[in-house]
Parts: sequence; C-alpha cells; structure tokens
Amino acid sequence: EFKPLVFSGVQPTGNLHLGNYLGAIRKFVALQDNNDCIYCVVDLHALTAQLVHEDMRSQIRSITAAFLAAGIDPKKHIVFNQSAVPQHAELAWIFNCVARIGWMNRMTQFKDKAGKDREQASLGLYAYPSLMAADILVYRATHVPVGEDQKQHLELTRDIAMKFNLDFMERIRATGLGIDIKVGDEPVHAYFPMVEPMIDGPAPRVMSLKDGTKKMSKSDPSDLSRINLMDDADAISKKIRKAKTDPDALPGEVDGLKGRPEADNLVGIFAALADRTKADVLGDFGGQQFSVFKPALVDLAVEVLAPINAEMRRLMDDPGHIDAVLRDGGERARERAEKTMQEVRDIIGF
Ligand code: ADP
Ligand code: NA
Repeated sequence: EFKPLVFSGVQPTGNLHLGNYLGAIRKFVALQDNNDCIYCVVDLHALTAQLVHEDMRSQIRSITAAFLAAGIDPKKHIVFNQSAVPQHAELAWIFNCVARIGWMNRMTQFKDKAGKDREQASLGLYAYPSLMAADILVYRATHVPVGEDQKQHLELTRDIAMKFNLDFMERIRATGLGIDIKVGDEPVHAYFPMVEPMIDGPAPRVMSLKDGTKKMSKSDPSDLSRINLMDDADAISKKIRKAKTDPDALPGEVDGLKGRPEADNLVGIFAALADRTKADVLGDFGGQQFSVFKPALVDLAVEVLAPINAEMRRLMDDPGHIDAVLRDGGERARERAEKTMQEVRDIIGF
C-alpha cells in the first residue's frame, strides 16, 4: 500500500473563478483535515499557452493568496510553486520517454487549446499532461482533487505510471524500491502508485453563466460568463441576475434538470456553495421561479466568497509574507521530490 498523499495544482494565469474554487480549491481545503497534502502553483504549465508573462510573479502570489485565504494551512501542509522544484521537469522528461505519441494525440484539452493552427502550438502544450503526471508522481501522490476537465489527464497519469512500473519491473525488483499493489485483480510490483482522481461533488464542472454548454473559464472573453474570486458583492449580484436561464420554475427533483443545462448549473453551484446535494437544494426551491432562487444564490455566493476576497486582498498587501510561505514550501517539496528522483535514477541505472 502506498501512503495516502493528496496533490493538486492551479496555474498562475488570469483571475481565479468560481469553477476553480468549487472544482479544486474548496476540495483542497476540505481534504487537509485528514490527509497529508501538497498544493502547487504550477508556473511551468503557464508557459505552455503563452510564453511571456509580464506579471508572472504577481500571478503566482495571487494564486498562493487564494490558497491561503480559502483556508489552506501552509505549515501543516505544503504550498509552493512548481519552478522552485526542478525535479518536476526532470521526471517529466523521463515521462516524455515513457508516454506514447498516440496517447498524447488523444488529449482533448490539447485540441481545444491548440485551436485550428496546431502546427503553431508549443511542444510544451502538447507535453503538458506528461509534466502534470510528473507533478503528481514526483511525490508518489495517491489522490488528486480536480475539476472534471482534468479527468483525461489523470487517466494518462495512470497509464504512464503503469508503463513505467512494467517497463522497469526487473529494475524495480532488483533495487528493492517497489511496493506490491493490486490494479483491479492483478498483482503488480509498483514504484509509482495508480492515482485516484477526486472529481465528485455537486459541481464537478461549473459552466459559463452565459452559455450553459461551455465550462466557466478564465479565457472566456466575456467577464459576465464567470464569477471571479476577486469580484465584489455588486459584481456577483449583477452576474447571477443576468445569468442565462429558461422560463420554467425549478423542478422538485434532480431528474427534472435534464435538458436544462443553465438551471442544472445554478443548482449545482448553490449545492456546492452550501455543501449540500442538488436534491436537497431542489427540496427547498422546487416549484419556485428563478426570481426567487437567484437572489438566494447571490446571498450565498457573497457569504462564501466575500471573506475569501477580503483575506486575499489583505495577503496581497504583504508580498514578503507570501514569498516566505512559497520559499518554505519549496524547500520541503524539494526534499521529498529529490528522494523520489534519487530512487528513479537508481531504477533507470544512471
Ligand atoms: P486550466 O488551465 O486547465 O484551466 P487551471 O489551473 O485553471 O487549469 O485549473 C485549476 C483547477 O480548477 C483544475 O483542477 C481544474 O479542473 C479546475 N477547474 C477549472 N475550470 C473549472 C470549471 N469550470 N469547473 C470545475 N472545475 C474547474
Ligand atoms: Na482546467
């Protein structure tokens, strides 16, 4: 058995939004009571879509501030930025040689982000999932809380771990560094664990407020499509009031949300913010119009987000403190990552 360890990351690009919060950061906070956790600002990933970032450092600080403001404890757990631990990139190179081009070609996020002119996408954007696998496995982490958009990348992480374990089976045995695990019913002698995605919850995929079929995203040109963590109460209220809906009342049961993506999205957001199920929320609001539901959602969103927003602003006024948190986290992360890399180098035979 591998020791349970939670790892996840967020890119320092653009403003964090409600999708990042409900799909990721909120879960990071909840998991820290009962787990050893490592949370990373993945700045190397930020180079994949756009190479030059004039405000890179302030973006890194801003994501770190969001982690801390949401309630992550950087003393009990590890908070750091990826480029401070070069072992991520070292393992990613090895994984580039483990992963097959055919596997990478199936990644839908690459197709989405590369757009029409794929020949002009960076090699880094193509190899992104291999670096993501390294981020996780350089700590031999077992659990990864993410939004649903990352599901395919986590499957690839498992494929990479499995191929490494099988290709180096003899070396893993010879070095005595492996652990006996079961994959399905198959006994496997493994160096890397099979990571478990943690995607569940009422809002694994928060959708745009303007178009219920697109995910809420930093890159959407319309600011009305998303609620940013830095939005004040007025902005939150305006965006929710303007959110696209249909003319019908809310259904009494979850089944009634089928074919109503906008209603489904808002109910999911409410449930996630209230830490309840969609069924619970519909128990309260079934039969009501959006004119009743939306103001309740505004109140709830403001109640949850305002304290985080205020604390983020307070933290951002003290960049020295944020940098100290990152430095300390980076040191502790580097120590753990280097232990893994010494073993990996040993297994490979360097
Ligand atoms: P990306 O560049 O792929 O958007 P991010 O750093 O923005 O990566 O994502 C950070 C985390 O937020 C990831 O776990 C991702 O799955 C989650 N996330 C992003 N958008 C959404 C969304 N609309 N709904 C739920 N989770 C989301
Ligand atoms: Na994402």
